[in-house]
Amino acid sequence: MEYDKLSKRLFAAWYDLLNSGVESRVVPYRRLTAGLSLGRTLEIGGGTGANIPFYPPGIDLLTVEPNPHMARRFIRTSRERHADATIVSAIGESLPFADDTFDSVVTTLTLCMVKDLDAVIDEIRRTLRPGGRFLFYEHVISQDRRVGRLQTLANPFWKFATTGCNLDRDTVGAIRRAGFDNIELRRFSLSVGVPVITIPNIVGVAHA
Ligand SMILES: C[S@@+](CC[C@H](N)C(=O)[O-])C[C@H]1O[C@@H](n2cnc3c(N)ncnc32)[C@H](O)[C@@H]1O
Repeated sequence: MEYDKLSKRLFAAWYDLLNSGVESRVVPYRRLTAGLSLGRTLEIGGGTGANIPFYPPGIDLLTVEPNPHMARRFIRTSRERHADATIVSAIGESLPFADDTFDSVVTTLTLCMVKDLDAVIDEIRRTLRPGGRFLFYEHVISQDRRVGRLQTLANPFWKFATTGCNLDRDTVGAIRRAGFDNIELRRFSLSVGVPVITIPNIVGVAHA
């Protein structure tokens, strides 16, 4: 329990620094997700507020973030950027919002960290209004079975080293299982870390 509290605090303290090595390469995908949101928008796992500069002016932004140390940083970023955003302490698996509430739901680099991927995507589907859009940028398991098996083998070590990130999430499968049948998707690879590893990524939109 104490370990959990400490790892949350450390993750929040180090996140921007750890991310700085890849952030310039992630910016195009923030533009294709946060940047395309419209109307009443929910971000799941707002983190330190890295997407705030990319949200279009005039949207009604709400984020859920369960890590209080991240939430403090999110609030600081929104103040610095003069952004009007509401933050709610909750988890994506159990969103405290009515059905059909949002025009857009955004996740960036969050679905690798949630405990129950299918439950989170079911909640996204439930809270999006008909015609609303789920905009996602995530890293995922490879379509190449051999590479996918390696990702699963390496996952326990990766998860420990990153305090909770999973390398082998079948996020596209979970989006389909939740009942999204109109999905536009681009797959690409991003190299990170020392030694360098290449990770499969997806960016896209699923229409409710
Ligand atoms: C890797 S960070 C990404 C933050 C931000 N979206 C970005 O692009 O920089 C993942 C975030 O998801 C949050 N998170 C973890 N589990 C969650 C859950 N079950 N529901 C909602 N957010 C969660 C973490 O606290 C963290 O802030």
